[in-house]
Amino acid sequence: VAATIIDGAAQAARARAEVAAEVAEFLDMTGRPPGLATVLVGDDPGSAVYVAGKQRDCREVGIDPYDHRLPADATQEQVASLLARLNGEETIDGILLQLPLPAGLDSGVLTPMIDPDKDVDGLTPVSAGRLAQGLPGLRPCTPVGVIELLDAYEVELTGASAVVIGRSNLVGKPLAALLLERNATVTMAHSRTRELAALAARADVLVAAVGRPRLVGREWVKPGAAVIDVGITRGEDGLVGDVDFEAVAEVAGAVTPVPGGVGPMTRACLLRNTLRAARARSEIRISDGASGGRA
Ligand SMILES: NC(=O)c1ccc[n+]([C@@H]2O[C@H](COP(=O)([O-])OP(=O)(O)OC[C@H]3O[C@@H](n4cnc5c(N)ncnc54)[C@H](OP(=O)(O)O)[C@@H]3O)[C@@H](O)[C@H]2O)c1
Repeated sequence: VAATIIDGAAQAARARAEVAAEVAEFLDMTGRPPGLATVLVGDDPGSAVYVAGKQRDCREVGIDPYDHRLPADATQEQVASLLARLNGEETIDGILLQLPLPAGLDSGVLTPMIDPDKDVDGLTPVSAGRLAQGLPGLRPCTPVGVIELLDAYEVELTGASAVVIGRSNLVGKPLAALLLERNATVTMAHSRTRELAALAARADVLVAAVGRPRLVGREWVKPGAAVIDVGITRGEDGLVGDVDFEAVAEVAGAVTPVPGGVGPMTRACLLRNTLRAARARSEIRISDGASGGRA
């Protein structure tokens, strides 16, 4: 193995420790902990596991978790009214609507109802617009986690050729925007891209966010490139990434494993986003107070 294995679990542990210390400071200054509300509709076992993990992560760093559940047959109006209530709740800084939603509910309608200042998943159109224009705002957790990993391993981004495979609103698009912000030359690839392997093989930084097990083989990777595997597919023997790890590790300069790469960083970044939202909201209140208090 030539490549440096990027240790997402270790990096995430450092990030969580940092957040825990800053949460304690926030509590000291404001007299309350940051709060994160998760909203789980239905009983998809995979989603339930994710939500339970997020609740546990919160408790570990001192963030107050609020666990909201609705039955699978909840109406769009019921979910909307819960979101509206959470938007108005003082103690709640972050709202996470767990996706996918059961059939009959439209995430395209419900997600935008989340107050952008509490949008810790960075998925509302307002957050996406803020990112696109380089304005302050909450960024999606997985892309932020990817950038943090690249930074932690001192991967040069300025002027680098970056190829992102996958163009979802959750991962590919916001990651491309973050890489561009960091002065990489970004190419976005997707299911219609021609000669993808050859394109990928020109990248200094290659990110796969597809969901196709071991799509990225050795010949897709430029020697010395940094390869980030976002993909997660549940296989017979556990989680499988989009990258053929053993083969790619022989040519890449650095590569993330699955599990233990991007996944733990995504979780840590959700905690950081919640703290960030809490700070921004408390500053809004402080400045409101100073100006005589807007309603
Ligand atoms: N590690 C984490 O924390 C984390 C977080 C989020 C997601 N994930 C994982 O990351 C993967 C992607 O998630 P997502 O939500 O972005 O998925 P998604 O919405 O399904 O998007 C997949 C993207 O891959 C593209 N694609 C599909 N087949 C392709 C092919 N053969 N060649 C090139 N591109 C292809 C699609 O292209 P079109 O647009 O042309 O259809 C689409 O843009 C999934 O495995 C998911 O489980 C992991």
